[in-house]
Amino acid sequence: MLVRLLYVSQSVGPMTTTVTTSILEKSSIYNKRENITGILCQGSGLWMQVLEGERHQVNALYARIMASRHHHHVELLSMEEITHRQFGHWSMALVHLSKDDPMVRMAHPEFDPYTATSKEAMSLLDELITSSSPIVATESKN
Ligand SMILES: Cc1cc2nc3c(=O)[nH]c(=O)nc-3n(C[C@H](O)[C@H](O)[C@H](O)COP(=O)(O)O)c2cc1C
Repeated sequence: MLVRLLYVSQSVGPMTTTVTTSILEKSSIYNKRENITGILCQGSGLWMQVLEGERHQVNALYARIMASRHHHHVELLSMEEITHRQFGHWSMALVHLSKDDPMVRMAHPEFDPYTATSKEAMSLLDELITSSSPIVATESKN
């Protein structure tokens, strides 16, 4: 059974390239092995991530992610059964999400993932992935 999980979290400390690179490197190995795909948005001290895959694998990865010392206030926004993957091209694609980003500001001046509905958050992610190409994309297949 395929599921899609969406969560938001707050970064502990600055979001440095070193932290991001380390997350993406680990994702590249682990997510490929576990057949998980998705996107990771970061900016303004926040992360929003979508994980897609078999329910058991997604649960296991979410537990691993929640335990990471790099973030806190991890809040589950949604987990739904799906028939196909939306972000199937990437074991984890990175998209920058910044309140200063003109696109985000214009389209969603009040956007706050902690209070937004999961539908609003997903549609913002859809827009970001279609309007801006991911900064770093780790292909899901070797
Ligand atoms: C925002 C965020 C997203 C992450 N996404 C993934 C992921 O998609 N796949 C993965 O294997 N690990 C992911 N991780 C976990 C890290 O790769 C790594 O296992 C973890 O950060 C190491 O534990 P530590 O942070 O306590 O050192 C993520 C961590 C954070 C903070």
